[in-house]
Parts: sequence; C-alpha cells; structure tokens
Amino acid sequence: MINKPRLQGKVALITGGASGIGEAAARLFLKHGARIVIADVQDELGRQVVASCNSPNISYIHCDVRDEGQVAQAVAHALVEYEGLDVLFSNAGVMGSMTSLLDMDLEAFDTTMAINVRGVAATIKHAAQAMVARKVHGSIICTASVAATLAGPGPHGYTVSKHAMLGLMKTACYELGAHGIRVNCVSPFGVGTPLTCKAYGQEPSQVEADFCEMANLKGVVLKPSHVVEAALFLASDESAYVSGQNLGVDGGFSVVSHSYTVVN
Ligand SMILES: NC(=O)c1ccc[n+]([C@@H]2O[C@H](COP(=O)([O-])OP(=O)(O)OC[C@H]3O[C@@H](n4cnc5c(N)ncnc54)[C@H](O)[C@@H]3O)[C@@H](O)[C@H]2O)c1
Repeated sequence: MINKPRLQGKVALITGGASGIGEAAARLFLKHGARIVIADVQDELGRQVVASCNSPNISYIHCDVRDEGQVAQAVAHALVEYEGLDVLFSNAGVMGSMTSLLDMDLEAFDTTMAINVRGVAATIKHAAQAMVARKVHGSIICTASVAATLAGPGPHGYTVSKHAMLGLMKTACYELGAHGIRVNCVSPFGVGTPLTCKAYGQEPSQVEADFCEMANLKGVVLKPSHVVEAALFLASDESAYVSGQNLGVDGGFSVVSHSYTVVN
C-alpha cells in the first residue's frame, strides 16, 4: 500500500483485467486501497494476476462481456464478495479484423461491435443498476482510443466501435448524472500490449518502437502505467466533478495534423 491511497474503501470491477491495461489498472487500484474484481475470458491469466497480488482484496471471475448474464454475475460477485461497487473500469476490448474495408468481413465486424460496444453497454447497465440501487455516486470509465476520434490509427471495425463508445459514454453521462454517477473515457495512443502485438505480429519492443516513431510527443514510451494513472484520477474523488470527458493519453496525437503543417 502507498502513503496516500486514493481509492480507499472503494470496490472496482475491471473488465479485461487479465492482461495489458486492465491488469495494470488492477494492480494500481489495489495499491490505492480498492478491492478489485477482475472479469475476463482468459481464466488462467486472470487467476495468475490474482495469485501474484497475494491479497484477499482481489478476485477473478470469468466474464465474456458479450453475455449479459455473465456481466450481471460479475457485478453480483463484486456485491457479494466486497459488499459494494463504486468503480467500473470497462476496458475489455479487441482490435478485430485488420482487413481493408473493401474486403470487410461482416461477421468479424459484428464480433468487434459485440465486445467493444454492446459489451461495454452491458457493463454500464449492470454496474449502474447496482450503484443506483445503493445510492452510490460511482465512477464509470471506459477505455476508448485515439481511434475514437480519428480514422487511420485502427482498422475500420475498431474505429467504428471506439467512435460508438464515445456516444455511449456521453449518453451514460447524461442519464446517470441524475444519480450522481460520473462516466468518462480514457483514450490511449498505441501501447505495446498483447492486443497490438497480436494485431501487428510483433514483439512489444518493436510495437513500441513503431509507435514512438509515429507519436507526436517524443521522448516518452507510452506504457499501460501511463493509461491507468489517468484512469485512477477518473476513478478517485479527485475528479469528483469530471464527467462526460474523453481523456486522451496520447501525447497530443489526436489534436495535431499529421499531414498538413506550415512549420518545419
Ligand atoms: N494497446 C493499445 O495500443 C490500445 C490503444 C488504445 C486503446 N486500447 C484499448 O485498451 C483496452 C485494453 O486493451 P489492451 O491493449 O490492454 O489489450 P489486451 O489484449 O492486453 O487486454 C484486453 C483484455 O480484454 C479481454 N477480453 C477480450 N474480449 C473479451 C470479452 N469478450 N469479454 C471479456 N474480456 C475480454 C482479453 O482477454 C484481454 O485480457 C481495449 O479496450 C483496447 O481497445 C488499447
């Protein structure tokens, strides 16, 4: 535990918590005093993360976010195991098909939407129901992407799904504001996680090197830790009046032009 825990007494459900950004969030939130439920489809990895933390304050549950019943069970698990739910980090996602739009595989498109949009909607629905029923002024954070505002950084299905996520976040912010629940997104630039390594067929070091080459902000290698520090802020009471925001963790990539410049 650290000196000034920022999530003391809170219970957090993290989807996609067995790997990458979600795993980093689970470890950081735990250090900050939260009790954590990791929900994922990679059971072995999820259980390994829990075992390595050596704490009663973190547990794993199998949950495919495409299955509403499993999402409801994950929320119920948090309520039974840790007697509450204050934070949802709806982070599970896939890159989906990398083909050109001209060769669009509509089944793959449906799968990407089912996980990245419908799955996130299901987690928001069930987490918010639990928060409203308990009058908890909770925080919901979704992992979007630079592909939520720009075309190009991701394949078409991924880009559509992450744009849709911003709409979902905004309508959830609107509807849940009446219950004191905040809803925000974090939007990373490229991180060398299993998601990107698999998509590009490269080792993390090569993926990171390629992202550094394309990045706007030079001299920093974007790591999961940078993304989850932003999520920690949004989960904590330090962001008590922040809702409806898409917090870029992208070194400014999404606000600069990459092809039209007047200054060399
Ligand atoms: N890595 C990047 O460059 C990057 C950039 C921007 C946004 N993101 C987003 O960050 C989030 C986390 O990705 P990551 O980079 O840590 O990748 P990752 O592959 O390491 O983690 C994603 C996790 O989601 C889980 N998952 C996938 N489908 C699921 C399902 N149906 N139900 C439950 N869990 C499921 C996976 O098992 C995995 O543990 C994703 O939403 C991704 O789109 C990643």
